[in-house]
Amino acid sequence: MVTISEVKTGTGAKDARTAAHTHIKSLGLRPDGTAEHVASGFVGQTAAREACGLIVDLIKAKKMSGRAVLLAGAPGTGKTALALAVSQELGAKVPFRPIVGSEVYSAEVKKTEALMENFRRAIGLRVRETKEVFEGEVTELTPEETENPLGGYGKSISQVVIGLRSYKGTKRLRVDPSVYETLQKERVAVGDIIYIEANTGAVKRVGRSDQYATEFDLEAEEYVPLPKGEVHKKKEIVQDVTLHDLDVANARPQGGQDVISMMSQLTKPKKTEITDKLRAEINKVVQKYIDQGVAELVPGVLFIDEVHMLDIECFTYLNRALESAISPIVILASNRGVATIKGTEVRSAHGVPPDLLGRLLIVPTLPYGIEDVETIIRIRAKTEGLDVDEPTLKKFAEKGMATSLRHALQLLTPAAMLAKVKGRDNKVRLEDLEECEDLFVDFRKSRDIVESNKANYLE
Ligand SMILES: Nc1ncnc2c1ncn2[C@@H]1O[C@H](COP(=O)(O)OP(=O)(O)OP(=O)(O)O)[C@@H](O)[C@H]1O
Ligand SMILES: [Mg+2]
Repeated sequence: MVTISEVKTGTGAKDARTAAHTHIKSLGLRPDGTAEHVASGFVGQTAAREACGLIVDLIKAKKMSGRAVLLAGAPGTGKTALALAVSQELGAKVPFRPIVGSEVYSAEVKKTEALMENFRRAIGLRVRETKEVFEGEVTELTPEETENPLGGYGKSISQVVIGLRSYKGTKRLRVDPSVYETLQKERVAVGDIIYIEANTGAVKRVGRSDQYATEFDLEAEEYVPLPKGEVHKKKEIVQDVTLHDLDVANARPQGGQDVISMMSQLTKPKKTEITDKLRAEINKVVQKYIDQGVAELVPGVLFIDEVHMLDIECFTYLNRALESAISPIVILASNRGVATIKGTEVRSAHGVPPDLLGRLLIVPTLPYGIEDVETIIRIRAKTEGLDVDEPTLKKFAEKGMATSLRHALQLLTPAAMLAKVKGRDNKVRLEDLEECEDLFVDFRKSRDIVESNKANYLE
């Protein structure tokens, strides 16, 4: 049997990558799809934003699967920012899988295999199941201890009594110690709303009862109302999983069917265990679920940043994968002009082979004018909690025009550090920027230095 479970895969490394874009909240479009010049942290680049808005609409209408888009433009023109805004517009229910072209190269996994995995991470499946559950607010949680049956001094838990309360009634359940373990892992406490699946004993914490909403909350806690109806009932459970989750869950079926045991297995991923045969099997079952109306396919987005890092083999694979019946929308980004395709001697626009180029929708991103650069730096400074006065801001913008937007933005942090050292806390002034200019150079300057001192460097 194919097990279905929700697996949250870690995103640690990705968070670091998106940190530079935290000021961007969405594409900043009006309801009619036109872009405001400055909205939601986005500045200018209006045509590309509108194009992305259209793509979001197409994705939501499920008219984009198997299609691919290329964001093409010079460095620092907002390609990565656009893709992240698209993911925000799509919401949490549509899978969005961002990778960088170079990520597919590793010693452990074949590159086409790595691509395939990412494809499947970008395809969602919404499964609706009616399950028999016990749902309510936890009123009691009492483990009953006994002498350890294996002897020794320790005690072991023989049973757990859980009290659950819903709108219409209360119930005391006596459950297996294994359920207690999952309760502890989900950090269930009295006052939480949970449900326990009757067949599997899987526990899901829904949130904190809103009766406790006046408590001070340290972190984002979700408050939910007391469940309606009886404690023991049939409930429609909607789960969003990706095909990759299914692959993982079924590659290691040992040990429980609940979310928790899947998660614990994930901590030691061994990618090699998922075979094509297993995937084909899963596809078959998924197709059956879809035909039965139990599940619905949610094609998401695979975003491949710096796509020119892929080689010809990957591109060929990509072409083929886009043809297959279940495929996500693929968004590519490249800052190359005419460049050599990796693994060949052929030169082609954006470092992408012509046959793939032919099937792409290409969205160009254009260089910014000085006003836009200034606005972007202003927004970024505000996001980082910095107070930059007007003359300094102007100078930053000029610097951005002379070098690149990216370089100017990068100077914000060291400039703020210098300001702090000089006891001005977060007040960045002209002298800090000037000092930074002496300390750091951009790539062009660095290239000039290298060229004028050729003799001193190693070949
Ligand atoms: N139109 C914009 N509005 C607000 N911020 C922007 C805009 N364009 C770019 N930025 C910000 O400028 C920085 C550089 O942009 P980004 O990383 O998106 O460029 P890119 O086109 O992906 O460049 P590269 O080709 O080097 O990857 C980021 O911090 C990004 O959030
Ligand atoms: Mg980028």
